[in-house]
Amino acid sequence: MPFCFYRQNPRTWQTIRVENDLYFQIRVGTLLPDAALPFDLYVLVNKKYIHYLPAGGKMSQEKISKLKGSEQFFVPLPQRQAFKDFVSQSLNQESVSVASKAKILRDTSISLVEEIYEKKDIGDALNESKEVVGHFVKLLNETPESIDHLIQLSTHDFYTFNHSLDVSVYALGIGKLVGYNDEMLAELGRGSLFHDIGKKWVAAEIICKKGALDEAEWAQMQRHPEYGLKILSEYDVSDAIKACCFEHHESFLGNGYPQKLDGPSIHPMARIVAIADTFDALTTQRSYNQPMTPKDALLFMSTKIKGKYDPDILKALNDVVNKLD
Ligand SMILES: [Fe+2]
Ligand SMILES: [Fe+2]
Repeated sequence: MPFCFYRQNPRTWQTIRVENDLYFQIRVGTLLPDAALPFDLYVLVNKKYIHYLPAGGKMSQEKISKLKGSEQFFVPLPQRQAFKDFVSQSLNQESVSVASKAKILRDTSISLVEEIYEKKDIGDALNESKEVVGHFVKLLNETPESIDHLIQLSTHDFYTFNHSLDVSVYALGIGKLVGYNDEMLAELGRGSLFHDIGKKWVAAEIICKKGALDEAEWAQMQRHPEYGLKILSEYDVSDAIKACCFEHHESFLGNGYPQKLDGPSIHPMARIVAIADTFDALTTQRSYNQPMTPKDALLFMSTKIKGKYDPDILKALNDVVNKLD
């Protein structure tokens, strides 16, 4: 399995994979300051799990701020439900700011997306994603401005797990703007999270290659929508989610891959994922190119490669991203 494409820092190229069956990882941003945590926290030191905070303990704002961006915690698997309940309660508290809720949601989701790529069997992650995406849809309904906070938390970095989440956020912003109902948003959000799942089957050397791909490598990489469809077909997944995966590299001009579908034949949700995907790729730092600013990426997509996309959805992306200025 190609671990490095989501776990490797492109600057140091150092794998930081963690593997275990007893604990699940959480990010420090999911912890509400000064709230009693209904689960134990462990840290990993020299490959050993060290008990950091017992259930019922609290973390101060100061401590959380100090740890932000670096620390990962581990929670025993049997306490997973307690953790999920804690996240739900945090997101439902009126006293918690929209910005904090967006951060909690982002950090919760990132841990889930990491699992998607870490585990052989993605059945659990597919199930978990229902709840996580449901939180996104609820937050967007209750506080429409949360999309701005969520976009501002987009990382534009190399890791595929961050990319998957960034694409979901843009896609949900677009979906909301074009009038999708909750059910459709949930499908779109999950389809976006799993759109690149087929990369699990692409050779790690290709996924992790620092420079441009040669012809054979590119051919292999272009099979990821097909691999993704095969993976998803093993599970009870809707056609819309499968289409987000299988059709997100199709082009309105009919020269995309793998099916060379023309515009009207491409599933509407896959059109949204395609646009969110390209926007995130253009604004992302890779080892061999400089990222575009969001403005430049929008301009590029609206001029140079305009014909590739559904014009209504491209306009919606403009509206979602431009209002942040
Ligand atoms: Fe892709
Ligand atoms: Fe992608």
